[in-house]
Amino acid sequence: MKALASTNKYLYKYKYYLFGGIFFVTLANIFAVIPAQAVRNTIDIVAETVTLYPFFSNTNIEKTYYHFFTKSVIYYGILIVGMAIIRGVFMFLMRQTLIVMSRHIEFDQKNEIYAHYQTLPLQFYRQNNTGDLMSRISEDVSKVRMYFGPAIMYGLNMITMSIICVSFMFSIHPKLTFWALFPLPFLSLTIYYVNGLIEKRSSAIQKSLSQISSFVQEAFSGIRVIKSFAKEKDSEVRFAAEADNYYNKNMELVKVSSIFSPAVVALVGFSILIVVYVGGNEVINGNITAGNIIEFIMYIAMLTWPFTSLGWVSSIVQRAEASQKRINEFLMTTTSIVSESNIKQNIGGKIRFENVTLKYQESGIVALQKLNFEIQKNTSVAILGSTGSGKSSLANLICRLYDTTEGNIFIDDIDIKSYNIETLRSQIGYVPQDVFLFSDSVRNNISFGSNFSDSEIELASQKADLHPNIIDFKDGYQTIMGERGITLSGGQKQRLSIARAIIRHPKILILDDSLSAVDTHTENTILDNLKEIMVDKTTIIISHRVSSAKLANLIMILENGKIVEKGTHTELLQIKGIYANMYDKQMQSNT
Ligand SMILES: Nc1ncnc2c1ncn2[C@@H]1O[C@H](COP(=O)(O)OP(=O)(O)O)[C@@H](O)[C@H]1O
Ligand SMILES: [Mg+2]
Repeated sequence: MKALASTNKYLYKYKYYLFGGIFFVTLANIFAVIPAQAVRNTIDIVAETVTLYPFFSNTNIEKTYYHFFTKSVIYYGILIVGMAIIRGVFMFLMRQTLIVMSRHIEFDQKNEIYAHYQTLPLQFYRQNNTGDLMSRISEDVSKVRMYFGPAIMYGLNMITMSIICVSFMFSIHPKLTFWALFPLPFLSLTIYYVNGLIEKRSSAIQKSLSQISSFVQEAFSGIRVIKSFAKEKDSEVRFAAEADNYYNKNMELVKVSSIFSPAVVALVGFSILIVVYVGGNEVINGNITAGNIIEFIMYIAMLTWPFTSLGWVSSIVQRAEASQKRINEFLMTTTSIVSESNIKQNIGGKIRFENVTLKYQESGIVALQKLNFEIQKNTSVAILGSTGSGKSSLANLICRLYDTTEGNIFIDDIDIKSYNIETLRSQIGYVPQDVFLFSDSVRNNISFGSNFSDSEIELASQKADLHPNIIDFKDGYQTIMGERGITLSGGQKQRLSIARAIIRHPKILILDDSLSAVDTHTENTILDNLKEIMVDKTTIIISHRVSSAKLANLIMILENGKIVEKGTHTELLQIKGIYANMYDKQMQSNT
């Protein structure tokens, strides 16, 4: 129960629900037990009447006696019905407090986990897959909710019901109590065991079901390939195999779950058998009444569910413990990317790298080695290099998505680590290499959580040379993208991503290979548009094409994480190195 202990804060927060729950459970159980005594009294009155009534026949007392008898029976009848109604009300209130509490906690916990996820660095997301992240916030949280809701509710129910019933039973006949309760622990153990099996097989079914779904999803997504290769039959056979697996798993579950009710009935029946036998002997000996036996049988019936739930509750608690442990693992993970002195000031845009080395912890790859350079504010630099040379890593460092392994980065001569992270990032317009668009309208993808006017959106989109494409769509800027909407071409996506960055008027603009999917003509248009935008910005254009470098005040060539050439276009052409070579090759192929 170590992991679950960390959730006690929620119980504390919702303590009034918990106390209310305890109160209502107790009341509901008291009103459940009282009718058993009413039944005992009724039976005893009936039994007495059956023996005594003949003696009064044809006397004056007969009528009075009859009157008394019917009145008592009606009184107890009303009492029993009344108690049942009151009990129902309290059971309703019990659920209204405890189950409502569990839903509140579920809500809080989901929010807590999601908020924590948002703080974690990119590195965390590379180390953990999305499915895992999702299952912790959905499945694991709902298992923990089962602990706060049903487990606590049935646990309380079991405790109060056992105390009330057993003390009543004990006050009547201790020995009979012992014999009546004897089989019940076996009931709990059986349920615990069977429930474990049911759980295991249910999760196998769940797994098989998700296999079927992903198979079907893939088959439908890839239907063009399947049809064009005439593989429908093959696909059918494979589906049948998946379905067969699912069927078998279900059959295995049916086998165990069909033991469930018979086991409960058998053990309870056994208990009643003992009560009738031992109790019957006691009635003969005159120690208890016939009504007591009925009363006992009713107590056993009332104890059946609590003892059944004991097995169930313990397996819920176990699963919740395992889930909370997984949740805690993530909640314990903290980000190392924090601000050291929380500077919140507007930046000018001067960037300086001092001996910067970046080694990715997960892969051990050294992406950047001892980089030294300076970019003056309101200038532009082009970073060229082949795939894997470390260009994107450099961009990641400026946005502080990663921290340097060695060396320091300064923006306006202040260490990047000193800035408030939100302040820093909000002044950087980053167009990442792999564009991501949300399933939302074009407009919302550009404004992306901020408020921009239509004219601002249109202007940004014009600068990114996207506007002519958008107005061709039927719904214009309201066009929905993604699964339910249209799919943009690679180049259009890149241009949308550029519009998203420039509309924010950042002080530092980073284009990470953002023109790779557009043709040279469009590239030229965008670069021309960018010229005005770049006037009051520090711009970093990352590319593997020399044509993208034409505007840059400074060109740097990266190779294996090192700067191998640095200078202006003319300087680099003069030294006839890598840049000059690239330039010759790429310009030749363009003409
Ligand atoms: N998040 C990461 N974790 C581990 N290794 C990475 C990560 N990102 C990039 N790398 C590695 O670092 C090197 C540089 O990658 P990158 O900066 O993306 O190069 P480029 O953008 O120039 O193609 C590559 O060898 C790549 O495999
Ligand atoms: Mg890259």
